[in-house]
Amino acid sequence: MSNEDQLNLFDLSPDGEAGASGFFQQDLIPTSAKIPVPPGTYPTMAPLAKHCNECYRCDLGKTRTHAVVGRGNLQAPIMIIGEAPGQNEDETGLPFVGKSGQLLDKILASVGLETERDIYICNMVKCRPPDNRVPTPAEIAACKPYLLEQIRLVNPKIILLTGATAVKGVTGDKRGITKIRGTWLEWESRLCMPIFHPAYLLRNPSREQGSPKWLMWQDIQAVRAKLDEIHN
Ligand code: URA
Repeated sequence: MSNEDQLNLFDLSPDGEAGASGFFQQDLIPTSAKIPVPPGTYPTMAPLAKHCNECYRCDLGKTRTHAVVGRGNLQAPIMIIGEAPGQNEDETGLPFVGKSGQLLDKILASVGLETERDIYICNMVKCRPPDNRVPTPAEIAACKPYLLEQIRLVNPKIILLTGATAVKGVTGDKRGITKIRGTWLEWESRLCMPIFHPAYLLRNPSREQGSPKWLMWQDIQAVRAKLDEIHN
């Protein structure tokens, strides 16, 4: 089926049904960035993951080994959004499994949060950018509908945005991460906190008061306190 035919599936008929035939053809939706992925497209994460692994909405699809969709609890109260998969993630198909991920797991564990139970973790873009470069705005835009669907499906109480790429990609806020980390933002009626990216902490190992690691410790305690407040 051509891109044009796929696009036609999204033409709304007068009574609001999708496409002339009145249903979405789920396997055919998102292969080109021209094809929209409207909210509500995916009933569960499984077809979304399948599409990500077949996706060529941007050129990152040409060089990936695996699309890296997410891991953790699909009903987690906290969702963490990173930047993009690295080499370990591309090889395994799982986000945050390299050094950054190990540090992140430790940070979470320090306040009693377990990734597999309390967290769903994913990235702004699902495929590894060559040489681990920052994903381009076009790549982020092509992939964003998948992320918005993930947020809708998981419906977390709190979203943690790790690093400036995630903050800008999700909320559009262009302020530097040093400025806004640790502050609560409201985005689309959701509670979000920007935090440092764990890779930044790996490059700045000092634990002195005021250091990035020390600030992260303050932030993760604030997240734990907010979660307890919400749950009580
Ligand atoms: N850094 C990220 O932002 N995401 C990953 O999945 C791994 C490293």
